[in-house]
This record gives sequence, C-alpha cells and structure tokens, in this order.
Amino acid sequence: MNAKLELKNVSFSFGKENAINDFSLSVEEGSFTTLLGPSGCGKTTLLRLISGFLTPDSGEILIDGVNQNGIEVNERKVGFVFQDYALFPHLSVEQNIAYGLKIQKKLSKTEISDKISVVSSSLGIEDLLSRNIAELSGGQQQRVALARSLILEPKILLMDEPLSSLDTKLRIKVREELKEIQHKLHITTVYVTHDQEEALSLSTKIAVLNKGELLQAGTPRQIYFEPKNVFTADFVGKANILKKSEKRYMIRPEWFKIAQKSQNFLLSGTILSEEFLGSKCRFIIQCDSTDEKELITADFDTIECENLKIGSHISFEAVKFWEL
Ligand SMILES: Nc1ncnc2c1ncn2[C@@H]1O[C@H](COP(=O)(O)OP(=O)(O)OP(=O)(O)O)[C@@H](O)[C@H]1O
Ligand SMILES: [Mg+2]
Repeated sequence: MNAKLELKNVSFSFGKENAINDFSLSVEEGSFTTLLGPSGCGKTTLLRLISGFLTPDSGEILIDGVNQNGIEVNERKVGFVFQDYALFPHLSVEQNIAYGLKIQKKLSKTEISDKISVVSSSLGIEDLLSRNIAELSGGQQQRVALARSLILEPKILLMDEPLSSLDTKLRIKVREELKEIQHKLHITTVYVTHDQEEALSLSTKIAVLNKGELLQAGTPRQIYFEPKNVFTADFVGKANILKKSEKRYMIRPEWFKIAQKSQNFLLSGTILSEEFLGSKCRFIIQCDSTDEKELITADFDTIECENLKIGSHISFEAVKFWEL
C-alpha cells in the first residue's frame, strides 16, 4: 500500500527565479520525512512537485520506482493536507470527508459510509460527523483534513505546516497524536515545517533546505549532533560556532560543564549575562581562549553554578564537540 518516494536531481523555477535546485532525496516506505527550512526556501514548491501540481524543469520524481512525469495529480495516489486545512465551510464534517470519494463516483453510498466510519474512528472524530466545520476546534479541523486525505488511501501523505495555526499547547498535543496515527497507519509521510522542535520530535528523517537546495538529510540525531554546515547547526537548535587552533567547532549550550573532568576542551572567559531557567542557568560568556574570542552561550546545571556572578572569570569545558 505505502510507497517509496525518490527525488532525483529535481530543479524547478518560477520564470527566472530558481526555486528548487538539483534536489535529490530518498523517502523510505512508511517513514516520516520532514522538510525543514526557513520561509521561502522551497518547501511548498517541493510538495507541489511531488503531488503533480507542478512539473520539474529537469530531474525525476519516482513513486515505487515509477517516474511520475506526465502522471496527473489524481492518478498519483498522493494525499495533501494544507496549512489552512482548506476544508469546505458550507459542508458538514461527514460531507468534507466523503468529498473526494463522491467525485470519483466509484463507490456506492454504503461503501462510502463504511469507509467514513473506519477513518473517522481511527482518528477519534466519529462523534463529530454531523457538525459544521465552524463548530470545530483547530485540532479537530486538522483531523478532519487528515481524514479527508486518508479516506482516498494515498500511498504518500504530504502535509504542509499542518499545525501552524494551532496555539503552542494544542500544537504539542496534536503533534503527539499525529505521530501515533502515522505510526499506526505506517503511511509514507512528507511533512513540512519551519519549527525545528517539531521536526526533531516527529521525524524519522529530516531534510534541511535553504534557498532551494538540500543542505543535509539524516536522522534527527545526526542533524542535531553532526551537522554538516553552519546553517544546519544553527537552524536546528542553538549552536555555538567557535575556532580553536585553526579548527572550527560546533558546541551545543548543554555540552558545556564547569567541572573539569577530562580537560580535553578547556575554555575560559568572562560572564556577561545570566538567565535562570529552572534546572539550568544560561550564561553568555565572552570567551578569551579561542582564536576569535567568540561570545558563547552555555547552559550549566543550576546546582553547579550557584556561585557564578556576572563579571566573574571562569574556566569551563566542552564535554562534547563537533568539528565542522
Ligand atoms: N506561484 C509562484 N510564482 C512565483 N514565485 C513563487 C510562486 N510560489 C513560490 N514562489 C517563490 O518560490 C520560492 C519558494 O517558495 P515556497 O512557497 O516553496 O517556500 P516555502 O519554503 O514553502 O516558504 P514558507 O515557509 O513561507 O511557506 C520563494 O522564493 C517564492 O517567492
Ligand atoms: Mg510554504
């Protein structure tokens, strides 16, 4: 049922503007792959290319090994959940979910209603079927949009920032639900976000994009611990980039310790500011032991740093570091 998706050297421009540049990515069957990048980097354009709303200028998009060039949108078996859900406000929940099946005119009324029961109960919205769209919360609308796509049994599900219109608390709750649903259905999913925390928590694979190009693809841990470039390091979490003995390193704030155990990456500097975060304290330190005397953001355990004050000169160490 679920498919493998491959993009091979895909390029696309809107007129003269190059939106996607020689982009290659492999999306494994049943995986949850996230396209992560700043506004305007080409995420939505990539989804539109995969679904067939746009055609690449060059390169290939393959679903289960079949080149999709020339295959119409409705023949591709690709579902699309949009940022604003694009639900029909004048139709009920049930009518929204049934919409795609009705226009296909392949199934009887009973078959359609059976499918509605299955999909709505798997998403926990079976009690909402007779409601109007305006009577739903943001999270419920999101599930209706998902149901409307899933009922067509897509081989690949594309989601374009589906949580961005929810408030922070609901976003985290729906994010967990989404993860569960994807896991249960094992549906190949390509998900778009510019929220790095969302990407880290949901994905099997993250593809980091900038200006239409793929900068790195890997597991959330690879992207976080072993970024290939400064852009990725900086975009996915907080990163200190510093130069020591002519080499450039990336160190996350939580990789610093005051207690010096191994002494293999010692630093020193003056504390410029302190922010109490509960279990941690975040310090901005003017470093004086690196090549370029960078400002460093370091998170120390609160218990460890009780005596530190703004203006103090301290020695500290990086217990972990990554050479860029
Ligand atoms: N229909 C269009 N005509 C011309 N240029 C476009 C069109 N759609 C997008 N673009 C341009 O293509 C580039 C990529 O746009 P895209 O919508 O894919 O970005 P995005 O990563 O989805 O951004 P966001 O996070 O803001 O949604 C941008 O420079 C954008 O201005
Ligand atoms: Mg977009």
